[in-house]
Formats: sequence, structure tokens, C-alpha cells
Amino acid sequence: MNRRISASLLAADFCHLGAELARVSSADLLHFDVMDGHFVPNISFGLPVIEAVKRCSDLPLDVHLMIEHPERYLEEFAVVEPEIITVHYEAVVHLQRTLGHIRELGCRAGVSLNPHTPLEGLRYVLDDLDLILIMTVNPGFGGQKFIPAMLDKIRDCRQLIGSRPIELQVDGGICVENVAELAAAGATNFVAGSAIFHAADPADYIARMRRA
Ligand code: DX5
Ligand code: ZN
Repeated sequence: MNRRISASLLAADFCHLGAELARVSSADLLHFDVMDGHFVPNISFGLPVIEAVKRCSDLPLDVHLMIEHPERYLEEFAVVEPEIITVHYEAVVHLQRTLGHIRELGCRAGVSLNPHTPLEGLRYVLDDLDLILIMTVNPGFGGQKFIPAMLDKIRDCRQLIGSRPIELQVDGGICVENVAELAAAGATNFVAGSAIFHAADPADYIARMRRA
């Protein structure tokens, strides 16, 4: 499966969003962390920001809903035609139904797991999902340190996925220094915020991530 890099807008300078988008135009996807102050202890941005970004970028959109009751907002977010909508395993009661709804809306269905959440339940919804996001930090804030114990979880998840066409995304503390190890463990989709946006030359940084 193609490896992809998703630039996380959480680390962008929101005063100059148009210019920030130009700096990361060589990424494969734009990643949006939507936070509600309930599921995670932080509030970020919502649909108006994503709509504005969509008007100034051709990159596919990767929407990571870190919110309670994400099933109530799927139709709203589908309006911006994201390639991927990811909901949290811990925030959804009827996961199989929610993933089906995301696909019905024309998007690829993702499910995200907090660091301590076991992979086990995913076994029963593998045919219903297109992406698994292993959080490599506790969700809610950019700029945190990668949790090394997640490498084992990524390896286990790779085994669980087998040959199915499911992307294995990692998010949190991802940078040039750990991307090779993560790829070797089986990750195929790399979300990075601070590392990319705080680089002097994000295009060069993205190229270095690809080479690594
Ligand atoms: C963490 C978010 C991430 C965040 C990653 O709660 O889900 O997408 O933007 O930021 P960095 O790359 O700075 O760890
Ligand atoms: Zn994220």
C-alpha cells in the first residue's frame, strides 16, 4: 500500500492559513483535528475552518473527529467531501453502524484508538473500515512526545489487518527521526503537525520524511 503523509493543520499559523497551506502543498493529505472539549480536554476548530481550507487547497481532506457523539455530525462534515472521516472507538457505541454511515456518505471510514485502547474489538469490524488510526500520544494537543510502547501496538495492528486494503495511520509526535521505525512496524499513513509546520522548509521536511 502507498505510504502517505498527512499534514496536521493544528500546528499551522491560523493568522496566515492560506500561506501555510502553500507551504505544505507537497503533503498527500490535510489532517484536521476537530476537538470538542469533552472527548479531549481541548477545543480546536470546526467546519467553518475546514470549509475555508477546502476553498484554497486541492489536497484531499482527512477529518479526525475527537468529539463525543461523532455520529451526530457526520452529515455536516460530509458536506466538505473529505476523503476520510475518522471517529474514536471510545466515543462510539454502535461502531459498525457509524462506519457504514460514513461510507454511505461517500467517504472512507476511519476508526481511531487512544493509546490504552485494545485492538481486540476491531477484529469484528475489519470489513467495515478503510483506515485504523493508532494514537501515538494522548489526543488533544499537538507537540507531544511519541509514546514508544505504541510500536508494539502498530505491529499487532499490522498483523490484524493482514492483506486487507486498510491504511494504518499514526498520529502524535511523528517526525523524521521515528518515521522509518514506524513504517517498519507496519504504519502506512503518517500524520505530522509540529514537525512539518515548525520546519524552516516544510516541503523539504516532507521530502525527508518520504526518504526516511
Ligand atoms: C493530537 C492530534 C494530532 C496532532 C499531532 O491530539 O490528533 O493530529 O495535530 O501533532 P504533532 O505532530 O505536533 O504531535
Ligand atoms: Zn489527529
